[in-house]
Amino acid sequence: MKTLIALIGCGSIGTEIIKSIKNGEIPHAKAVAIVDTREHAVEEVLDKLNIRDIQIFSDFQDFLSSSLFSFVDIIVEAASQMAVRNYGKKILEFGKKFLVLSTGVFADPILLTEFVTLADEKNAKIVIPTGAIAGIDMIRSVKKNLTSLSITTTKNPVALSGAPFFNSSKIKSERIATKTLLYEGSAEDAILMFPANVNVAVTLALAGIGLKRTLVRVIADPDIKINQHEILASGNFGDIHIIVRNNPMVENPRTSMLAALSAIESLRNLCYDTFRIGS
Ligand SMILES: NC(=O)c1ccc[n+]([C@@H]2O[C@H](COP(=O)([O-])OP(=O)(O)OC[C@H]3O[C@@H](n4cnc5c(N)ncnc54)[C@H](O)[C@@H]3O)[C@@H](O)[C@H]2O)c1
Repeated sequence: MKTLIALIGCGSIGTEIIKSIKNGEIPHAKAVAIVDTREHAVEEVLDKLNIRDIQIFSDFQDFLSSSLFSFVDIIVEAASQMAVRNYGKKILEFGKKFLVLSTGVFADPILLTEFVTLADEKNAKIVIPTGAIAGIDMIRSVKKNLTSLSITTTKNPVALSGAPFFNSSKIKSERIATKTLLYEGSAEDAILMFPANVNVAVTLALAGIGLKRTLVRVIADPDIKINQHEILASGNFGDIHIIVRNNPMVENPRTSMLAALSAIESLRNLCYDTFRIGS
């Protein structure tokens, strides 16, 4: 039997997910619906991929009231924090599995508690893929033993442009000529200032010692073409030091290729878990 999948957001990550399902890389999976406000752009993507049997909705409410909704097993959000906020509860109320990429939204503790409580009640599931970093399994394993946890994210200013940080700063992204430390502080504040850039910091913090105690640095470097994340974790177990150097996606330099690959692997785990590697 096929596991039926709907996608909210078919931009750079969503398109990679659709491609992998089409290519049979996710056992038992079938994509049946896409919700995206850019309906025509999605039509073009599906045309290019020669896919004809996915229904497109430009409005989540239309998807919710369609007959298709009740049959869908997994809903993947690859859209925006707002999409998770606006549609998440409905998805969980109906007991769906909900794979969330815009993890920054879970920096809001009230929303997080509401979502987890609802998922418990309705036998739904919230899944956060590792995303554009590595080692989340290990950070989760040592969370009780951690004394410090930090992540330093270095990106080209182009990938950081448009972040709310620049609204209240004298620094302008287009004028950064040398490597510059833009932000140092908690994950809780980092996600407010860089909502499209440090989802991984929220994922790391939730897996580890929480948003207040996780230190985040954001560095803009005009000489770098990749998105780099450096994680340091210490405790009585020893130290963990991870550096991930990601190629940005061509369509969206804010997003790393690794984020899409991680989402695809999470979907594979949800669709087929007879033999699973990693904690
Ligand atoms: N967890 C991670 O490691 C990680 C890494 C990269 C990106 N992200 C996040 O994943 C999300 C998707 O990233 P992307 O690079 O694919 O973005 P993208 O901009 O390329 O695509 C997003 C798509 O979602 C659609 N969309 C946005 N809001 C919507 C809404 N409310 N309803 C319906 N459609 C909506 C847009 O029209 C667009 O087609 C972003 O929020 C991004 O910050 C997470």
